[in-house]
Amino acid sequence: MKEKTSSRDKVLALLESKKGRFISGEEIASDLGISRTAVWKAVNNLKKDGYMIDSVTNRGYCLSHGSDILSEAVLRGYLRDCPPLVLDVFDTVDSTNTVCLKRASDGDRRTYAAVAGGQTRGRGRRGRSFFSPDGTGLYMSILLRPSGLSADQAVKFTTIAAVAVSEAIEAVAGKTASIKWVNDIYVEGRKACGILTEASFNPEDGTLDYAVVGIGINVYEPQGGFPEDIRDRAGALAGPVNGTCTLGINRVLENGGRNRIAAEIISRFFSYLDEGFAPAASSVTDPAPRYAAEYRRRCFVIGMDVDVLKAGAEPQQAHVLGLDDECRLEVRYTDGTEETLSSGEISIQL
Ligand code: BTN
Repeated sequence: MKEKTSSRDKVLALLESKKGRFISGEEIASDLGISRTAVWKAVNNLKKDGYMIDSVTNRGYCLSHGSDILSEAVLRGYLRDCPPLVLDVFDTVDSTNTVCLKRASDGDRRTYAAVAGGQTRGRGRRGRSFFSPDGTGLYMSILLRPSGLSADQAVKFTTIAAVAVSEAIEAVAGKTASIKWVNDIYVEGRKACGILTEASFNPEDGTLDYAVVGIGINVYEPQGGFPEDIRDRAGALAGPVNGTCTLGINRVLENGGRNRIAAEIISRFFSYLDEGFAPAASSVTDPAPRYAAEYRRRCFVIGMDVDVLKAGAEPQQAHVLGLDDECRLEVRYTDGTEETLSSGEISIQL
């Protein structure tokens, strides 16, 4: 069923596409096939919702680059080549992963994404909480229900997401993004994004029932900085929105802000997904999929000394030898034994 888009959302999408430029009420009305009064009402509603829109007689309306409000209409406007996707955009939610898990357990089989501007109970790996303040970050989860995938194949979701996020960051923020195996994205030497994939498997044959890929990005530096416990390693894509950062140098805002980052991630994730699950038989002759080559190029731990962290065990010192074509980490421990890790966590030895 095709959903009816409100005048407010249509006006917003148009202003967003011409962000930073004036467009007359008359032009908006004629482009959208609505009255000038409807345009005026829509602009007033948007202003009430916090959008920074300048209204100037004889020039019209201009959405300021300083506005970065998540909106389904604007986000959808930035999506490319994406499969049919049910999308919910929240100001704040407990956890976008939890929203997806609930949806999966309710039996919804459609591909779904939840995007939020803040989380009250953001979850990280190994039972940790994830810092998710309102307004400065981007928190999103994608629910996938492909049939017949094994547990090994499901691990690819995290690596594909890591590449999609890195590329999205570069496209919008113009900063180089690198990957700390397996799920952390670093910008300028600091962790700017974490990924948490949660999955459920069918008890009969062990195939994947559903997977939820959760992505949390520090987009803008919080006013007053990061909390004490993560201050030494957390980073963001841009400076504070209303603080010392002038709008002119904030590329994230200029390039479409959090809606654009979310859309870039979703579009790139689904495009890589298509090639990430080529039948195993073809891998004998085919080169590694593009995402794996891209993951390896960005993975900065190759050649480093690290601690391998496994649940319930002491950290083990190891040297990172490389990554195989499935993005598994090849390590040599200090006793000379070698292992290929398909999941887990490492910390860098300083
Ligand atoms: C980590 O670095 O430990 C992984 C963090 C993953 C955080 C994201 S934010 C969106 C989604 N919802 C959550 O509760 N967690 C993930």
